[in-house]
Amino acid sequence: SLSRSFQRAAPLFSRYAPAASFSTAQFKVCINGGAGGIGQPLTMLMAMNESVKEVSVQDVSMAAVPPAGVAADLGHLEFPSKVVGYATDPKVPATEQLEACLTGCNLVLIPAGMPRKPGMTRDDLFNINADIAKGVVEACAKFCPEAVVGIIVNPVNSIVPAMAELYKKKGLDPLKIVGVTSLDIVRANKFVAEITGKSPADIEVPVIGGHAGVTIMPVFSQDPISATISADKIPALDKRTQDGGTEVVEAKAGKGSATLSMAYSGARFGNKVLKGMAGTPTDECAYVASTVTDLPYFSSKVTFGKTGVEKIHPVGALNSYEEGRLKEAQRSTRAWNTSQGSERNSGA
Ligand code: NAD
Ligand code: LMR
Repeated sequence: SLSRSFQRAAPLFSRYAPAASFSTAQFKVCINGGAGGIGQPLTMLMAMNESVKEVSVQDVSMAAVPPAGVAADLGHLEFPSKVVGYATDPKVPATEQLEACLTGCNLVLIPAGMPRKPGMTRDDLFNINADIAKGVVEACAKFCPEAVVGIIVNPVNSIVPAMAELYKKKGLDPLKIVGVTSLDIVRANKFVAEITGKSPADIEVPVIGGHAGVTIMPVFSQDPISATISADKIPALDKRTQDGGTEVVEAKAGKGSATLSMAYSGARFGNKVLKGMAGTPTDECAYVASTVTDLPYFSSKVTFGKTGVEKIHPVGALNSYEEGRLKEAQRSTRAWNTSQGSERNSGA
């Protein structure tokens, strides 16, 4: 049975209510970039998970709010988690600074890095954000190699391959590196709810492919509610899902990209991973090293179990529109890969 404090937060978590085993706080979670736009609300939502005993909030020392301040603030929530802040010097390697922060972590979520401004593609963020991610991921390899590392920082389509290759080179499991594409699912669910008038809680649209442009591929035919939408409405719904990020970037007019819906989606992902670790295998589409298609990295339904990625599921049945879209996503990724060096594949 759920504890009283969990019941209070239940509206936030009703889509993925935890199993009874959640009642014992056991997990340590780290949020890198935890003082940022995504980081703060994401840290809050993870600190509200009853299975979490400790949350590390890491950010650089010149972050807008000191990580210790975020930690002190969230440390007063009436949940079991202890929240600890870590401020680092970006000029000093993360491997020299993150031992206490990362040691013992089961789950690391990385929204550290620059967001887009209007007119930019996610790919324009690669050079700066790949360096930031590399520092954090090298520290994960050293201090918590068994943790699931959820990559939120963009461009997800190329940061994930680069970080998974880094793990491979170190002899670690590349499937510990998981690209978080849950926001695309959340958006598709919401847009379908708006069109059909049904509850978003009853809708679960798989979104496969990747996290940029045409690689974002909602599979509306596989959800019983979205499958009822007439075929002529699907292309616009598909496009709106692909452009969800840009919709927010433009509305924020230079002041950042999606933060609150991403924090919600990051917690949806993180809570599912922890639920799997607690003994209840749980599914979420995520972007991982994959043999499901001919693309080396691909998002499809993943089952998270005790040690993280347990099974990567095939794409499943597609209708003819979706078959065409899958070909489009593959073509675009292959063309992008061909245009780039080996350090940067799976872009688009
Ligand atoms: P933000 O600028 O508000 O926050 C980023 C934080 O990272 C800042 O606090 C900054 O100080 C910190 N940071 C910078 N270098 C760091 C380092 N070396 N170590 C630790 N922290 C460091 O940005 P945001 O809006 O939170 O977005 C963060 C990233 O998430 C962006 O790259 C954005 O594109 C991406 N994003 C991804 C998705 C997705 O669906 N995967 C959705 C939204 C945003
Ligand atoms: C999103 O989908 O909202 C994020 O990837 C941020 C962005 O730049 O669009």
